Amino acid sequence: MVNHRNPLVTHEAVYNFEDDATGVKAIIAVHSTSLGPAAGGCRALRYENYNDAVEDALRLSEGMAYKNALAGLPFGGGKAVLMLPANASAPDFDRTRMFETFGRWVQSLDGAYVTAEDVGCSVQDMQAVGHSTQFVAGLPARPGLAGGNPAPWTAKGVFLSIEALARHRFGSGLQDLVVGVQGLGQVGFALCELLHEAGAKLLVSDVDARGPSLAATRFGAEIVKPDNIPTVAMDIFVPCALGGILTEESVRDLKASIVCGAANNQLATVAQGQQLADRGVLYAPDYLVNAGGIINVAAEYLGETTDSVETRVAQIPARLMQLVRQSEAEKVATNLLADRMARDIVASGQPSKVA
Ligand code: NAI
Repeated sequence: MVNHRNPLVTHEAVYNFEDDATGVKAIIAVHSTSLGPAAGGCRALRYENYNDAVEDALRLSEGMAYKNALAGLPFGGGKAVLMLPANASAPDFDRTRMFETFGRWVQSLDGAYVTAEDVGCSVQDMQAVGHSTQFVAGLPARPGLAGGNPAPWTAKGVFLSIEALARHRFGSGLQDLVVGVQGLGQVGFALCELLHEAGAKLLVSDVDARGPSLAATRFGAEIVKPDNIPTVAMDIFVPCALGGILTEESVRDLKASIVCGAANNQLATVAQGQQLADRGVLYAPDYLVNAGGIINVAAEYLGETTDSVETRVAQIPARLMQLVRQSEAEKVATNLLADRMARDIVASGQPSKVA
């Protein structure tokens, strides 16, 4: 096991780990702990190279710091990235052992970082992490208390935000609006269900055909090729796959007038926020609207109830619309305004009173 502490300019610390037995490598990035322990999920993926994984960990942990700050949570921002070895999908690969090892790495940071699920991790994986550390959430809920898979809460917060933006932009509910959902994983599929119940017409896409074909059967969704979804004709674009989807080109060709989704780091660079604003597109900062999952994780970690999660998630759209109104009044892109607000909260060292 290797454990280097590399202080960076923007992050408090970045830790590297490697396990010879399973071949897994991990990066744990701690952006800030001024509001509390750095909390953020664990992303388990195959990465092309170490630099891509580090970049992901750095960007995601910074996003977590801003997300936790705007959600009023007493947590800083952190993220773990597991670089899965080539044989991770083989039937004899010991996934439990890999997550137990990861749990030991989390434990070695003495509570500076608290982990949970992100892309590529399940509740079962977090149970394995829990064999080796107490600094973990996203475990099965205990009666009356928050816990379990955070994805449905993430979907709920994004859905309520989409509804609020539609009222603001179109003066109506979602009935008959065309909504394109990219990525029908845990969050995207749950969102499709909520959008369908609200009367939206769904366009769906995923590199894995199973989600879209189930959505076509259950919700009458139309399937779109993965590469095309950002720029097909629709009212609202809902990115729920991976980050970097809003590039200069995709924003230039975007037909939707609202972008609001769960995927972290949707903007390829901060400049795309201004580009969206210049094109008159209402962009919901991802870390503001996708906070439902971390709200649930934080409540579980602090021993709070499901009711408190429901209340906090229901407050997300009000916070979003306050930001949208301020952005319109000050003529500042929503992403820049959200970044500014979040940085101010982190710098203050006091969790905000918004939630
Ligand atoms: P997931 O892994 O369950 O689903 C992601 C889906 O995106 C998969 O079905 C995958 O096949 C698909 N996908 C990947 N590349 C694609 C592409 N190029 N085009 C179309 N589909 C593609 O992940 P989950 O949990 O649903 O998360 C989705 C996004 O929301 C991620 O960016 C995650 O970081 C973010 N998020 C998730 C939270 C949660 O509670 N699970 C909380 C906050 C953010």
